[in-house]
Amino acid sequence: MKEFIKNIIASMTLEEKASLCSGLDMFRLKGIARLGIPSILLSDGPHGLRKPVFDPDHLGIGQSIPSTCFPTASAMASSWDRNLLYEIGYALGEECLHEDVAVILGPGANIKRSPLCGRNFEYFSEDPYLTGELAASMIEGIQATGVGASLKHFAVNNQEYRRMTIDAIVDERTLREIYLAGFEMAVKQSRPRTVMCSYNKVNGVYASEHERLLTDILRKEWGYEGLVMTDWGACDDRVAGLKAGQDLEMPSSFGVNDAKIVKAVRDGTLSEAVLDEAVERVLELVYDAVENRLPDYCYEKRTHHVMARQAAAESMVLLKNDGILPLKKGMKIAVIGAFAIHPRYQGNGSSQVNPCRLEKAYCELCTYTSEITFARGYDLRSDVPDERLITEACNIARGAEVAIIFAGLPDSYETEGMDREHMRMPESHNELIRRVAEANPGTVVVLANGAPVEMPWLGNVKAVLEGYLGGEAAGGAAADLLFGMVNPSGKLAETFALQLDDYPSANYFPSGPRTVEYREGLYVGYRYFDTAKKAVLFPFGHGLSYTSFEYSDMEVSASQIKDDEELKVGVLVKNTGDVAGAEVIQLYVRDVESTIFRPEKELKGFDKVFLQPGEMTRVEFTLDRRSFAYYNVETADWHVESGDFEILIGSSSADIRARETIWVESTRPGVSVPDLRSTAGIYYNLPPGNLVVDDESFKAIYGETLPSNIVLEGEPYTINSTLGEVKETFFGRIFFELVHNSARNTLPEAEDGEMQKIMTEKMLEDLPLRNVLTFSEGKINEQMLEGLLLLINRKPAQGLVRLSTALLKIG
Ligand code: BGC
Repeated sequence: MKEFIKNIIASMTLEEKASLCSGLDMFRLKGIARLGIPSILLSDGPHGLRKPVFDPDHLGIGQSIPSTCFPTASAMASSWDRNLLYEIGYALGEECLHEDVAVILGPGANIKRSPLCGRNFEYFSEDPYLTGELAASMIEGIQATGVGASLKHFAVNNQEYRRMTIDAIVDERTLREIYLAGFEMAVKQSRPRTVMCSYNKVNGVYASEHERLLTDILRKEWGYEGLVMTDWGACDDRVAGLKAGQDLEMPSSFGVNDAKIVKAVRDGTLSEAVLDEAVERVLELVYDAVENRLPDYCYEKRTHHVMARQAAAESMVLLKNDGILPLKKGMKIAVIGAFAIHPRYQGNGSSQVNPCRLEKAYCELCTYTSEITFARGYDLRSDVPDERLITEACNIARGAEVAIIFAGLPDSYETEGMDREHMRMPESHNELIRRVAEANPGTVVVLANGAPVEMPWLGNVKAVLEGYLGGEAAGGAAADLLFGMVNPSGKLAETFALQLDDYPSANYFPSGPRTVEYREGLYVGYRYFDTAKKAVLFPFGHGLSYTSFEYSDMEVSASQIKDDEELKVGVLVKNTGDVAGAEVIQLYVRDVESTIFRPEKELKGFDKVFLQPGEMTRVEFTLDRRSFAYYNVETADWHVESGDFEILIGSSSADIRARETIWVESTRPGVSVPDLRSTAGIYYNLPPGNLVVDDESFKAIYGETLPSNIVLEGEPYTINSTLGEVKETFFGRIFFELVHNSARNTLPEAEDGEMQKIMTEKMLEDLPLRNVLTFSEGKINEQMLEGLLLLINRKPAQGLVRLSTALLKIG
């Protein structure tokens, strides 16, 4: 293959080479008929196939072909089941084969830094180890079918606010240990065919032109050999991107950037060898797809639906159960909440799939009992409690043995392009739960949401089932769990704090206008709550079952190891209850005493086992150097400081059932361990209250002066200013309205038109001017933008001249 591709490249013109480095349209790559190079199709991802129906050319949030909507990533992650992720990946691959899609755009491996990130439902966890393991399994499943995966969004894309321009300021150690570690595991273990770089900047440089990230770390350190593509519209400076290791710009730049590549090679500012390398990777992807194409491939739609239901049931987390669950068949139940008939099962944005079949919880519950009533409880379009609907709900609750409320976050709360502003559920849901729980003490809440919510009513209800956004069969899965047909086995892949202010990022999310500082450093999720000893609503790794498990006979293979040796850890787990069930066994490592600050404990292993009543099994883990290491920024390497380490085995991060201490001896005792006690003491001694990290302490770990986060009065607008920013000026406002109207007219009508409108408006606000070139499909050219910028920057005469020249040119 290598030889074949090299020969093709040798026969290409410079223009042809440059043309292959950007998309043909929204989702296709260009082909070259003269050379017989075919065009291939990419499609979103990540929890279902979203192949546009008619026109792969439109903005990409319109109609798509029906496909199986599996649980979203934050749901799937709660299964902690590598095999399940592999199976779902495989099923996604099959659907791609059937539709002749060469690459599915997922999974997303970004860390859930704040509960507010609008795209949290597309991400797995607050923990990089869990993220990496699950992403790797999913990629392996997808790629086992011959279809390519796209690991995204590389990197440090943890918010939607100003996602196309924000500069994530993160210290090197945090970058390595938290934000890159999941990507690193997935890349090394599963070799995704493509990696998608993110929109944002990382420490001052756009991810799409970040040589350190794309070449030094991804390729040289991690050995990545696949293709790097941009997120849609993430390309800033095309030539700089190529030099940094970005091969493919998506979507099309309508020839604008191809011409820049040609010019750069001609004038000697870009070596043709760099271009050839990118072209080689594009062609490798294309011919790989050709080789794996199975145009007549068919899959069993029904089987995939069943799989979606099983996956949802495995992913839902039983957060609380005061003995009311499981329900008995035939029981008299009141089903309350519009979500029971209008399910909330996935998030908005590019990942939104058109499900083959959608299960409604109400209908599914009817298969378990005929003694069933229903009340809407709240208005889907309003957050304000509706007295009439609540009274109706209370009335049916009073007449039932159990009231089951389906509540959570409406569509408008969780979407790509927008972060949440708070962690509360709509008051219409909260008030409904309070009142129904008063009317019937046997109240159960089933939640639909992609990330944590506050639960002010928790003490008043008997049980809570966290359903997450469980995909097209979430309704049936919830019914199966509530009636005990399936035993819950999901565990939280993230901490549910009591309130928003408790999160370590609370004061530093989403910040802006220029930068977002990751001042909490390594202390994300349980790493923070455990270290600061702060109470939470539900800890990381928590999840109840209808049976119980006993842990015993923990064994470690040695009491002392060198850091280049492996340690085997084993534990016996027994199902001590009356029903079969699955348990997720979690292994955490705690550095007992260290010179550098370290979180209280970190997840380094997990396994899920299914046991019949009375059955027992031995679960084994293997730990290696990385399990004990921290990232040493001075030596730019992972390092273990000699000392005692506790190996903790638990049923959750807060429920440790067995522990052993071992000594790990460094094989590099000469390496000095950074001691930041005097300059960054707060990281050694986290205060119990709301986390505030002063400039000096953050600077001490960041290692440099912090970049300015202020937009100066009169600062000129640039090609990277957003439409939201320029609309503050007279000409900018006119331009914004023009773009806005044209976007409105070109967007296809969708069922949830209102939500799409809000999302599009938000996305336009955050869109840098440079992207108008692409999104206008070439109708607006660079010269026009230059003219516009002159106008906006109060140089009307020059601006008008430039604009009229541009307009005259296009006739
Ligand atoms: C999203 C990506 C997605 C792409 C294509 C972007 O806006 O960030 O996750 O794959 O669009 O739809």
